[in-house]
Amino acid sequence: MANPLLEVRQLNVAYGDVRALWDVSLEVEEGSIVALVGANGAGKTTLLKSIAGLLRPLGGQILFEGEDLGRLNTKHRVDKGIVMVPEGRRLFQTLTVLENLRLGAYLPKARAGYDDSLDRVFTLFPRLQERKNSKAGLLSGGEQQMLAIGRAVMAGPRLVMIDEASLGLSPILTRHIFELIVALNGQGATVLLVEQNIHMALKICSKAYVMKTGHIVLSGTGEELLADVDVRKAYVGERGSRL
Ligand SMILES: Nc1ncnc2c1ncn2[C@@H]1O[C@H](COP(=O)(O)OP(=O)(O)O)[C@@H](O)[C@H]1O
Ligand SMILES: [Mg+2]
Repeated sequence: MANPLLEVRQLNVAYGDVRALWDVSLEVEEGSIVALVGANGAGKTTLLKSIAGLLRPLGGQILFEGEDLGRLNTKHRVDKGIVMVPEGRRLFQTLTVLENLRLGAYLPKARAGYDDSLDRVFTLFPRLQERKNSKAGLLSGGEQQMLAIGRAVMAGPRLVMIDEASLGLSPILTRHIFELIVALNGQGATVLLVEQNIHMALKICSKAYVMKTGHIVLSGTGEELLADVDVRKAYVGERGSRL
């Protein structure tokens, strides 16, 4: 079988003396949506940041198309198509929508595909085209999340890692953002999705991993985890202890 697009093997990460990830392993097949769920502090953001090259692991491997990313810095990983949409969006509030999108295509390969990428973003998010000359800081929360994802699309991503896309959004906007993530995936981007909205995440993913205090404690298809009694108790609106 071909290599998965992304493979994390026995990853260990610490902040100083505080260990955050313990022997974390996961696989993301090309073209899939994989969800990563778990309570606050479980280590989800730490895992995404490690894959993006923002944190140095203590040990373990991160392979992209079978190649060890080793000590490649973030810029080189972006150039390979590994792009993160950070929690809290991190937009340039005083720049316009278009200027923020342009910054997403800052590397030479992405710059070469700028016009096509911009077409893709405006097809996915017509609202951004309408507001292209507005300052990012004046957009609604949902529009800002679209812009954060749009900026990632501008980088020409193969793997988009989205951290807490629906945080702070209304149920309607959350649904809309999920539809857009599915559309983005339909255009060929592989998606690794961190979400507190477990039910929706499990519904759109082909595979999911559950994290607890720095460990992967469970994995399966979205359907399997939706049917899992413990997961339902912990996450899907039924009473029980949190994972
Ligand atoms: N910059 C940091 N310095 C020290 N500890 C951190 C830092 N960021 C996260 N942590 C700790 O690492 C653990 C995992 O955090 P995080 O990856 O943010 O979890 P999640 O995204 O699942 O909420 C937590 O115990 C958290 O307190
Ligand atoms: Mg987090």
